[in-house]
Amino acid sequence: MNLKIRSSSVAETEVLSMTLGSLLKPGDVVCLYGELGTGKTTFARGVARELGIKEKITSPTFTLIKEYHEGRFPLYHLDTYRLAGPQEMNDLGYEEYFYGQGITLIEWADRVTELLPQERLDVKIFFCPSQDEDREFNFLPQGKHYDCVVEELKKRVYFRNRNSYFGNQCSLNG
Ligand SMILES: Nc1ncnc2c1ncn2[C@@H]1O[C@H](COP(=O)(O)OP(=O)(O)O)[C@@H](O)[C@H]1O
Ligand SMILES: [Mg+2]
Repeated sequence: MNLKIRSSSVAETEVLSMTLGSLLKPGDVVCLYGELGTGKTTFARGVARELGIKEKITSPTFTLIKEYHEGRFPLYHLDTYRLAGPQEMNDLGYEEYFYGQGITLIEWADRVTELLPQERLDVKIFFCPSQDEDREFNFLPQGKHYDCVVEELKKRVYFRNRNSYFGNQCSLNG
């Protein structure tokens, strides 16, 4: 089941990603797609906070990866924006992250599509033309486990907001 959620502020995005964070387990992989400034790092920040990570999360654009070990589970935050090629991912030992004991978040996951695990949660983020601070989050689970995660995410978000998200989606991205 795919799920579209609209966020109208950084705070809303953080609540949304914290809610997702509470549903993730070691070994889970979340792929973030979206143009510069759509909110991939902001989203990562909420997941990190929910895991209990106090350190400030920034895009690991130049280091490719940053590991955080102070939370409930390890968090591996990748940003492949400046990736030179697939060899760099091999040098990084990416499989140890994707198939390891932590939660992996990947910004610009579309740059490494062929390396991604088949089972994963894709999150596509779009600007909304009508409002500067509005974003549409499109949750696209790949595999049964992530179907359950998104199903539960939907329940929690809709429960918290009652009906406020219904009928409130961007028309731009279909
Ligand atoms: N609803 C929103 N969700 C996330 N970020 C938002 C939102 N509205 C405005 N912003 C702003 O958009 C920018 C997102 O930046 P960032 O998370 O670093 O994006 P990315 O990692 O995708 O390049 C920040 O400046 C943030 O303040
Ligand atoms: Mg970023």
